Amino acid sequence: MKVIVLDNYDEVSKEAARLVEEKILADDELVLGLATGSTPLGLYENLIKGHKTRGISFKNVKTINLDEYLGLDNNHPASYHAFMFETFFKHIDIELTNTYIPDGVPKSAEEECACYEGMIDHVGPVNLQLLGIGTNGHIGFNEPGTDPNSLTHVVELKESTRENNAHFFQSIDEVPKHAITIGIQSILKSEQIILLASGKNKANAVKTLLESKEKVNPDFPASYLWTHDDVTIIVDKDAYSIV
Ligand code: GLP
Repeated sequence: MKVIVLDNYDEVSKEAARLVEEKILADDELVLGLATGSTPLGLYENLIKGHKTRGISFKNVKTINLDEYLGLDNNHPASYHAFMFETFFKHIDIELTNTYIPDGVPKSAEEECACYEGMIDHVGPVNLQLLGIGTNGHIGFNEPGTDPNSLTHVVELKESTRENNAHFFQSIDEVPKHAITIGIQSILKSEQIILLASGKNKANAVKTLLESKEKVNPDFPASYLWTHDDVTIIVDKDAYSIV
């Protein structure tokens, strides 16, 4: 696991964008694994800037998102479909048919999970997976207790996760209790993984992650990243402050 510590959120976002651009320039048919949440916003802004000012093209890039809330349709402003469209996809030249996000209102959640995992195997492998990290160590929506062999599945969200994400909704009552997420195993199928973390509120999670090499365990799902051989963690000084 490679660790890059930078001054602040801006630097983290720029470095992550630089690494993504480098991959796209080397392979314009890149398959990118994308994350939501506050952390990747700066990365997406920088990628948009790269597209608008330096002509970085996403025309042949495919994207596979980690997760979606169950019960929110694509038009709900807090759905990850809306998040990805508003913050990233509508500003670049990506074909929307090349973007994949689990369906938040499937007829059968089980079928949707199986179908999404099949899509990952068909469209993938993901060449570069971008991740954030939850304060409890979740990656995607793989909450503590998740089986390391898990594929795409339905998860019940922890109260702490619902609280942390409530700022995207009008109130906490609106935050769904369940989501569909790709699993730990699905994430580990990616060729390369970059995890971003910024701010003092992630310091504990970053410390636990970096100390978990010898204690990979389901109570801290991000610890499974130690079992992958190409993971880079890009953090700012605040997130690294207690390591
Ligand atoms: C959310 C997402 C994760 C994200 C994490 C951290 O619940 N499902 O993919 O990495 O929590 O979010 P944030 O970047 O807003 O701190």
